[in-house]
Amino acid sequence: MHKVMIISGAGLSAESGISTFRDSDGLWENYDVMTVCSTQGWMQDRQLVTDFYNARREDLEDKKPNAMHRALAALEEKYPDQIIHLTQNVDNLLEKAGAKEVLHLHGTLTDLRCEECHQTFYVGYRAQKEDEQCPHCGSYSVRHNVVMFGESAPMYQHIYRAIDESDLFIAIGTSGQVIDIVALVQEFEHSILVNPKQERHTTGFGDFEKNIDAYFEHFIQAKATDAVDEMLEYIEEHLGR
Ligand code: OAD
Ligand code: ZN
Repeated sequence: MHKVMIISGAGLSAESGISTFRDSDGLWENYDVMTVCSTQGWMQDRQLVTDFYNARREDLEDKKPNAMHRALAALEEKYPDQIIHLTQNVDNLLEKAGAKEVLHLHGTLTDLRCEECHQTFYVGYRAQKEDEQCPHCGSYSVRHNVVMFGESAPMYQHIYRAIDESDLFIAIGTSGQVIDIVALVQEFEHSILVNPKQERHTTGFGDFEKNIDAYFEHFIQAKATDAVDEMLEYIEEHLGR
């Protein structure tokens, strides 16, 4: 049975009005990354980081899924057990579009997590209270549920499972700077990249750089919502083989 592995990133939700991280109008233009997204910043000033995620969570309430979120949710429903969708996004727009099986590699905004018992609990769009208490164990040691630089991302184990099980790789709206999609795509014979921009791939050796799209079988150079039809055509053809 053919299976499809999808990795999505901030670009998927850009047209729904959620800022990406690294674009010129991205979130990190306005915030210091290492302060709000790292364990170092977290240890220095928990309140500042909590405020940052409270604002992101609140900002999410009125955001609506776009045509690509809806297409991906419909795909999951049409091909049960054949789509493994891993998203780097912490928003809930895929779920708002009806998706049920998406794996959130970097956590979720609408949950908080207990530092004592490690369980998560749903808070929706509201801010974390000053005396927020874990409903599972009663601890007051509670935090946002988003992975920070400097800590492990346990959900990454699903990446390796997905590589093993699937034979078409799709990357949508990601710069590939956190999850190295060039390393991933080389495990596949069939692949699709959706991005309006030609992102560079840096090897770490500096001088050897290629565009990320050069590694993919199909490059749809368009915004997510404009790429839906062409992407679905490739997927349907693949799954129908
Ligand atoms: P980035 O902000 O690094 O990259 C967003 C990508 O989306 C860029 O390549 C854009 O060209 C592309 N893009 C912009 N608008 C688009 C559109 N309308 N349709 C399709 N693509 C579009 O975001 P990510 O790669 O997702 O982690 O970043 C990865 C991780 O970095 C995030 O999950 C976040 C951050 O650290 C955490 O918060 C834990
Ligand atoms: Zn607890």
